[in-house]
Amino acid sequence: MTTKALMNTYGPRSTTLVRGEGCWLWDDKGNKYLDALSGIAVCGLGHSHPAVAKAIAEQAATLTHCSNYFNIPLQEQLADALRSASGMTNMFFGNSGAEANEAAIKLARMYGHKRGIKLPTVVVMEKSFHGRTLATLSASGNRKIQAGFEPLVRGFVRAPFDDLAALEKIAENNSDVCAILVEPIQGEGGIRVPAPDYLNRLRAFCDKHQWLLMLDEVQTGNGRTGTYFNFQQYNITPDVVTTAKGLGNGLPIGVCLAHGVAAELMQPGNHGSTFGGNPLACAGALATVETIENQQLSLKAAKIGDRLLAGFKERLAGVKTVKDVRGRGLMIGIQMTMPCKSLFAQALDAGLVINVTADSVIRLLPPLIFDEAHADQLMDVLVPLIVNFKGD
Ligand SMILES: Cc1ncc(COP(=O)(O)O)c(C=O)c1O
Repeated sequence: MTTKALMNTYGPRSTTLVRGEGCWLWDDKGNKYLDALSGIAVCGLGHSHPAVAKAIAEQAATLTHCSNYFNIPLQEQLADALRSASGMTNMFFGNSGAEANEAAIKLARMYGHKRGIKLPTVVVMEKSFHGRTLATLSASGNRKIQAGFEPLVRGFVRAPFDDLAALEKIAENNSDVCAILVEPIQGEGGIRVPAPDYLNRLRAFCDKHQWLLMLDEVQTGNGRTGTYFNFQQYNITPDVVTTAKGLGNGLPIGVCLAHGVAAELMQPGNHGSTFGGNPLACAGALATVETIENQQLSLKAAKIGDRLLAGFKERLAGVKTVKDVRGRGLMIGIQMTMPCKSLFAQALDAGLVINVTADSVIRLLPPLIFDEAHADQLMDVLVPLIVNFKGD
């Protein structure tokens, strides 16, 4: 593209994708790509999924939008579907992950004020990512996305990820803290998987201190790690969960889900959104959630994820530039010893869409419909690129 009419937020982009079907994408020159990114964990059902396409098309021709001044039965159906998929009880729909987290942060502040805390404070983690609005970039543990946007929003304290001792210290010294916001697996931070007992210990810790446990499942949610939400692998119930990305298979929709004490905090006038939960977005998201649940795609993601993890570990064993291979389900990171951003373009040339995050981590987020053949093709193409990689 040659227009100068866009703000330069994304830098130059060399490839124009024009069509997608299942796990495959095509560019404007007719080149075909295997998609191991899903639009950054969004198109879990792959591209042009018939059930989602039908739901969107029918709803677009019926009632796209009506505002939240009116009953929206599809919003209620979607909330009920998410309730049965997750056990969380009350939801607020927005349009993105950042907005879902904004709702969570507002809930934490409401909860703090209710407890008589004057400056309610949320513990957030190093290397976390929660979005690009002012509150969510302030919550994120990434200086690069904060720089230039000071003053940051107050009311956050930072702790190292996967470190309960650090939280104990914060609890001792800061009586304003009333919640933790944490990704169960850090995505943008480099697919960082915490110790297996981390979430259980966090739940017990939050109970002890009467803090809300708020999980940012914007990236880990919607079937990606082997259960609808990642927390469901730990037999715990968080107070607040947020998700977006894979919720609508490409439609802009996000949700903040609450349980227990957090579920009844919002009252009329406290929060809202013009587009949030509109009939079109909810129709697409409902078809997506139902398909993920009915076809047990979370289990499939776990199975193919195991195959990929084991396969990459085996094929990359002994490669000096590979530091670690890790992940859960279809959220896989290959940590290199050096920056490797140029692998994105090299993979594209080889007919593969991947991503590099945190400078040196190859991030794979394939659609949940990936099968054995897709997985093997991904490894066949990517492994030689990694083995021969000499640096950016
Ligand atoms: C864990 C997490 N939270 C929040 C966000 C922000 O979501 P959005 O870009 O939809 O605002 C992202 C996006 O990458 C994310 O990975």
